[in-house]
Amino acid sequence: KLFALTKVTALAALLGTSFGALAEPVEIKFSHVVAENTPKGQMALKFKSLVEERLPGEYKVSVFPNSQLFGDNNELAALLLNDVQLVAPSLSKFERYTKKLQIFDLPFLFDDMAAVDRFQQSEAGQKLLNSMNRKGIVGLGYLHNGMKQFSANNPLHLPKDAEGEKFRIMASDVIAAQFDAIGAIPVKKPFSEVFTLLQTRAIDGQENTWSNTYSKKFYEVQSHITESNHGVLDYMVVTSDTFWKGLPKDKRDVIKKSLDEAIAFGNEIAAAKDEEDKQAILASGRSTLVTLTPAQRQQWVNAMKPVWAKFEDQIGKDMIEAALAANK
Ligand code: LMR
Repeated sequence: KLFALTKVTALAALLGTSFGALAEPVEIKFSHVVAENTPKGQMALKFKSLVEERLPGEYKVSVFPNSQLFGDNNELAALLLNDVQLVAPSLSKFERYTKKLQIFDLPFLFDDMAAVDRFQQSEAGQKLLNSMNRKGIVGLGYLHNGMKQFSANNPLHLPKDAEGEKFRIMASDVIAAQFDAIGAIPVKKPFSEVFTLLQTRAIDGQENTWSNTYSKKFYEVQSHITESNHGVLDYMVVTSDTFWKGLPKDKRDVIKKSLDEAIAFGNEIAAAKDEEDKQAILASGRSTLVTLTPAQRQQWVNAMKPVWAKFEDQIGKDMIEAALAANK
């Protein structure tokens, strides 16, 4: 028996090395930090199924959700080391590689997701996909999640209600300035730690989309959610220049087409989930919705909008104008 097994192993090894067709498929690792029942989680799985259906036996996609493989603090470094081939961090998480994407964090810049989409698809928005090329990072497309809402353990009607409170933020200086502007205390922490920080009351609040607040159960440890729609949380799907250019052109075309289709699918889910997950949170009765009157919302705008001027030089005035033009 042992002999037979050895023979089979030897034969397999021989075939594996001498016949290309029997070689192992090339693995594309896609790592992300959110749950699977989110726009990004679903997009990644769709991408996997499209690539494996179109390049059977040649390429396989392994998806690692929930910061299982890499988290906020190391996923871009891992990409550059080719330890992972695709990641899709939120647009707030590229600051170490480019300041240009800071535009997406400016509070109250975009009226709604349709405006965000128009800007991303515009010439100016598409140019930003190349803003990290010199660092070896290639932007392949934008993916939506949705607008951000504030959550806390007290009702935030006015900016002064957040004074002195600690808010977890993504690693973005613009978002830090946004909370500084209202006298709150921003704390940069990776996504994987948010639930525990809220649960143990190490922090008082956070800002996120309905789908992240729902899928990671933040609403179970926050008494109130203020529907502020004050900023956008979207993603850039990125790969490394080394990996991307190393792919044979015909395969790269199939992979890019599959990604574009997966992104379109993810964007549809994003729009649906935004509403669905909001309703699920409200139905749970765990967290109370705070709706702002127009006058209350205006106070948040007045308090936070001065942040724009601080970052105008880094982002570019023309970029800000292009983004504003998308609010029609
Ligand atoms: C966050 O850190 O709150 C989000 O960027 C997580 C994500 O990827 O949606």
